[in-house]
Amino acid sequence: MADELIESILNESRSFPPSKEFSDQANINEAKAEEMRKLAADDHIKYWAKLANEELHWSRPFSNTLDDSKAPNYEWFNDGEINASYNSLDVNVSKNPHKTAIIFEKEDGKSESITYKELLLKTSQFANGLKKIGVEPMDRVVIYMPMCPEAVIAMQACARIGAIHSVVFGGFSSNALKDRIEDAQSKIVITADGAFRGGGVIPLKQATDEAVSQSSFKVNNVVVFKRTGENVNFNKGTDIWWEDLVADCDLVCEPKPLNAEHPLFILYTSGSTGKPKGIQHATAGYILHAKTTFSWIFDIKNDDVFWCTADVGWITGHTYVAYGPLLSGATILIYEGAPTYPDVGRFWSICEKHSVTIFYTAPTAIRALMKHGDEIPANYDLSKLRLLGTVGEPINPEAWIWYHKVIGGEHCPIVDTWWQTETGGAMISPLPGITNTKPGSCTTAIPGIDIDIVNESGEPVDEPNQGGYLVIKKPWPSMLRTIWGDNQRYIDTYWEKFDGKYYVAGDSAYRDEDDCHWIMGRIDDVLNVSGHRLGTMEVESALVANEKVAEAAVVGRPHEVKGESIFAFVVTKGNRPTGNDAKTTQEELREWVASQVGSIAKPDEIRFSDNLPKTRSGKIMRRLLRAIARQEEITQDISTLEDESIVKQLQGEE
Ligand code: WTA
Repeated sequence: MADELIESILNESRSFPPSKEFSDQANINEAKAEEMRKLAADDHIKYWAKLANEELHWSRPFSNTLDDSKAPNYEWFNDGEINASYNSLDVNVSKNPHKTAIIFEKEDGKSESITYKELLLKTSQFANGLKKIGVEPMDRVVIYMPMCPEAVIAMQACARIGAIHSVVFGGFSSNALKDRIEDAQSKIVITADGAFRGGGVIPLKQATDEAVSQSSFKVNNVVVFKRTGENVNFNKGTDIWWEDLVADCDLVCEPKPLNAEHPLFILYTSGSTGKPKGIQHATAGYILHAKTTFSWIFDIKNDDVFWCTADVGWITGHTYVAYGPLLSGATILIYEGAPTYPDVGRFWSICEKHSVTIFYTAPTAIRALMKHGDEIPANYDLSKLRLLGTVGEPINPEAWIWYHKVIGGEHCPIVDTWWQTETGGAMISPLPGITNTKPGSCTTAIPGIDIDIVNESGEPVDEPNQGGYLVIKKPWPSMLRTIWGDNQRYIDTYWEKFDGKYYVAGDSAYRDEDDCHWIMGRIDDVLNVSGHRLGTMEVESALVANEKVAEAAVVGRPHEVKGESIFAFVVTKGNRPTGNDAKTTQEELREWVASQVGSIAKPDEIRFSDNLPKTRSGKIMRRLLRAIARQEEITQDISTLEDESIVKQLQGEE
């Protein structure tokens, strides 16, 4: 696309109203949205109670909508009983058993489909298998799987019997897996012999073996799904093949009625310390939000084919792959492999092959594919697409416009959805039939969600275009309940700043004159690399765990494709490496970080210095390091540094 065109669109700071054709058929039209907003404004509790009654099937109805007696440990619908798997599978089987639930596109280009009925049978059978090896309600089950239907089956099976799943992204290292097994004290790990990715195989079983053998918490069983068929180590006594586990299991498993507040899952995410937090979600509130936002934001219809490219190891894959779509009886597509395998047209070829109608991905993927030009998508028939979405990081207007024109053919609304692992589902997003979208803005909060932008003292920032803290003013059903095993950290991280009055998202944002919200970035030491959250401290702890490293400081630097890249300043023990020695040590440390955390955490750049710049009280001068990494002018006072020549080293000049 011509640069002048982008330029002219950006200069107009245009907004994009939905077409009449889209609006006329949208699930949420003006009148409906107005009615919902009014009800939510008049009576927040009644609004959520009404939705919970209309949208979910309860084993025992609730009468208590919100219990704030232990705030900020809010509880929702806590005298009701429900089952998430029943709501996802049984309910839809009774409506249309032969509808396709999952289209599975394998990396090698073969594909298969599973109906709702089949999904229910497989889930039930696997749930019985889990029971057979002693899994009970409240037990934690780690799922470390490739992107394949069995990952969803494993999650649904846990939900069916009341076990708490903790999915660990398959790209995390054995060390990260071990930490998560220990923190959640998980007796069971479900994995596969391997995962196909980018033409190769990721040895998930090997990583699991390492994690299990090093874990201080004893794992009783490892269930291994055969995905690649490669020869893997098999530990008699603990390991069980998935197929053997289910071989003699019944195909019926009654869904267990669970208290609405029963934990559905734990999902680890990065915070501002070295230790990831186990974000804990509760059953009813979470599935309510997953189902309603899926229908409102993605405007789902019976014949849609919805493809969310996120891995189930992330919250997006939980809410908009494993739960939201299934709760809505939708058809989803799951793709196992890399976006660029065997070539950069793969995403678009999948859209064509399976007639995808709604496509949801991260800005990083859009930017990466945009770099290959308009000709690649032009080779595919994308005419079935009717709605596009983005998630995970701010999208730059150029990428938005490319997505709109080249992928969406100018007729698909784009929903830029802002949310977090902690919020459970999308919070700020266009409603595609009614919102005038603006490239780069996630627009306004969905009905029932009350957000604001406040200053340091917690007062609302009413002036348009003034930045502040993004806060959520009222509790909402899909909010995180706590941090697994550390409720104080939950209170300190999200509520302390404004004395428990608001949930503090950790993002800064501003609102423009049209009430559109613009996310400016994190206010804590959290990076957003390719839409994935990573703590700077997590990378620092990994670096200092290496025997060569004395000290490390990690900062983020804007990156054209990844949004942010990781820049590490490292002080080694002994002499500062230079020349070839520096190059080898850099490579060694990059690989080391990958082995400690995962490939996504590999620093893009490592620079060695004799010391790190510190304040008199001994705190690392991160702002200075950030300015250096970004090659910005240094405005900080560096006269307090013991040795000013360090700055030259940090700038890479020596
Ligand atoms: C960022 C992902 C701008 C934000 C669902 C948030 C976004 C963090 C957007 C949560 C968006 C997410 N525009 N920034 N549409 N969506 N973010 O927990 O900084 O992996 O706090 O959840 O991603 O990341 P998480």
